[in-house]
Amino acid sequence: MEICVVGAGYVGLTTAAVLADRGHTVFCTDVDTDKIAKLRKGIIPIYEPGLTELIKDNQQRDTLFFDTDSKKHMAHCPVIMIAVGTPSAKDGSADMKYVKHVITAIAETIRSYKTIIMKSTVPPGTADWVEEELQQRGTRPDLFDIVSNPEFLREGTAIEDTVHPDRIVIGAKRSEAAMKVQEMYASLQTTFLLTNRLEAELIKYASNAFLATKISFINEIARICDAYSADIMEVSQGIGLDERIGSRFLQAGLGYGGSCFPKDVNALDYVASSKGVKLDLLHAVKKINRSQIDIYLNKITHALGEWTEKPRIAVWGATFKENTDDIRYSQAIALMKKLTHRGYAVYAYDPLATPELPSVIWCSSPYVAVEQADVLVVATAWHSFLEADWHKVKTLMRRPVIVDGRNALDKKNLELHGFAYMGVGRP
Ligand SMILES: NC(=O)c1ccc[n+]([C@@H]2O[C@H](COP(=O)([O-])OP(=O)(O)OC[C@H]3O[C@@H](n4cnc5c(N)ncnc54)[C@H](O)[C@@H]3O)[C@@H](O)[C@H]2O)c1
Repeated sequence: MEICVVGAGYVGLTTAAVLADRGHTVFCTDVDTDKIAKLRKGIIPIYEPGLTELIKDNQQRDTLFFDTDSKKHMAHCPVIMIAVGTPSAKDGSADMKYVKHVITAIAETIRSYKTIIMKSTVPPGTADWVEEELQQRGTRPDLFDIVSNPEFLREGTAIEDTVHPDRIVIGAKRSEAAMKVQEMYASLQTTFLLTNRLEAELIKYASNAFLATKISFINEIARICDAYSADIMEVSQGIGLDERIGSRFLQAGLGYGGSCFPKDVNALDYVASSKGVKLDLLHAVKKINRSQIDIYLNKITHALGEWTEKPRIAVWGATFKENTDDIRYSQAIALMKKLTHRGYAVYAYDPLATPELPSVIWCSSPYVAVEQADVLVVATAWHSFLEADWHKVKTLMRRPVIVDGRNALDKKNLELHGFAYMGVGRP
């Protein structure tokens, strides 16, 4: 198939590369001229393991092309996939301005039949709205189908998730359109869930809301563990062994961040309240996630005790999770802001990200960051942090105190090295 993927971000790039690799001819377009210029030269603007090789291979095989001219490729490709951003607006709703631009461009170019796939995460009712919008702009209804096909990949493992998805959800009005999209994914061995568009749109929001709930749930249980001096690691292992619950997303820590969970929980809350539905559970999920940072701050303040000289805090990690360069809604950054606000000197290191933050000093290595530090906070579970030279870290720090923001470090090993270790729910 000839496919035009609109939006060369984390989702668009990965999906375009995998579809090209699976035998389709893919034209991936973006309004960002710099991004497209880089991609054409084989420079990948984001960090995603394995993506550079996959893109370059398919560029060389002439199956993957990058362009700024979306309209040109929308006009000739029978399949258009929309993968633009849907960030949070100020009121918590999904900001649909990028999707609207794409719909306008489709309306202006459409001359032959198109299967329009909505890959972006969009509020329930969007497919119906797009259909009406295109018709109001004079597009004949027989010239297109809108298919909702939400994406579930995780940054850091995006290619693996795209090649081996748990399921592919296809929401369509007409079965012919659903079959066309299923055919596009024919090379992927997975379960296909064919449903209606509204349900497909809701599946995406409900999935992210559920995962966020799991994280806030385990963080709340960690608070009880802290009160009893019980170990959340044992508790979460015991819970996770129950197949009805499952072990994933049961890691207590700084809470969830990233470009999806916070915005999608907010967007779901927004659409629910617009229908008069109050989401008590999700309000609690958000509240727990916000206060998780304060729990860490209090632990750090407690560890510092009375001080005369300005405390120096080393923070390892800025991205919202390991194996990505994405810092959107990163809890690590939210913590750094609060630490500087409290008057602490913050020396930070991340393998990929050095965002400009007032009063945060970025260091050239994790070891430079810990020099003379009173506390080391591991805010992102990068593998290199977990495997650090702890002997070296201990000799460099002023006081050997480690706060584990992801409950990911080997507590026993750190204690053997002479560190005072603090996580959440770790006695
Ligand atoms: N990032 C994830 O892990 C993830 C996972 C599942 C679903 N999603 C959803 O997928 C969608 C895309 O997310 P992302 O993280 O890839 O976003 P992103 O911000 O990384 O990329 C979006 C891209 O779209 C481009 N764009 C904006 N308007 C355009 C237009 N009119 N024409 C062409 N390009 C345009 C932007 O320049 C940008 O490069 C969002 O709705 C998101 O919620 C993301």
